[in-house]
Amino acid sequence: MEFTIHRYESVTSTNDVAIRMAEEGAPEGTVVIASEQTAGRGRHGRRWSSPAGSGLYLSVVFRPPLALDHLWQIGFMAAVASAEAISRVSQLSALVKWPNDVLLNERKVCGILTEARSPAAGGRSPVIVGIGVNVNTLDFPPEIARMATSLALETGVPIAVEHVEHALLECLGTRYEQLMAGGFGPILGAWKTLDCTAGHEVTVHTPEGEVCGTAQGVDCHGNLVVRQSDGSQVSVASGEVVCHISDRQTK
Ligand code: BTN
Repeated sequence: MEFTIHRYESVTSTNDVAIRMAEEGAPEGTVVIASEQTAGRGRHGRRWSSPAGSGLYLSVVFRPPLALDHLWQIGFMAAVASAEAISRVSQLSALVKWPNDVLLNERKVCGILTEARSPAAGGRSPVIVGIGVNVNTLDFPPEIARMATSLALETGVPIAVEHVEHALLECLGTRYEQLMAGGFGPILGAWKTLDCTAGHEVTVHTPEGEVCGTAQGVDCHGNLVVRQSDGSQVSVASGEVVCHISDRQTK
């Protein structure tokens, strides 16, 4: 797939810029990259720390020919592609954590914020995929310091942000084309090989309350399946996982 890159020194949020472009008719493959974000946004209304030059802050406009209730597949596709790109660049094994995080050595190195907008009359809904990768970050804000990491911290060497950008766009293009041609099956297959939570004890904070048990993996609807201590299975559609992989908690 073809990408057209728009580069900025500093923006509020690359997602905000990409959403505006999409609303003005920007085609699929439009990419916004900034060296710094002054109001980087994460999931659940959190902020995404985005200091100049230490991370990759990138948003892509997709216009997938998918029904509205299948657009969630784009976030899983992007997480798989991001994990593959990060593994390639770092020579380490990056894993995915439901719903859309990428971890290195049990700490979050990459987050994804997917936002859809209504289509113009007769058109396809634009889906904006915002990806933040901690590349050369050495210090994190105290509230995330325990759970976050960067490529430089894990590899012990500084990494060129453009190197990560190239790998990420290549993997995203390949996985997006695969999703469009072959449906969610191949993406789910890749997800299962990269899933860091399956088989582990988890607590999921959902809008309806806490779900505790053993994660069974992700189903074909993108839900996280959890087996509770009484043997019953729950499918969770949205929430935040605290995974008790080892003594350390990842969030
Ligand atoms: C999360 O894990 O909470 C999602 C974080 C997403 C951060 C990226 S950085 C590029 C794009 N612009 C934003 O404001 N957010 C996303």
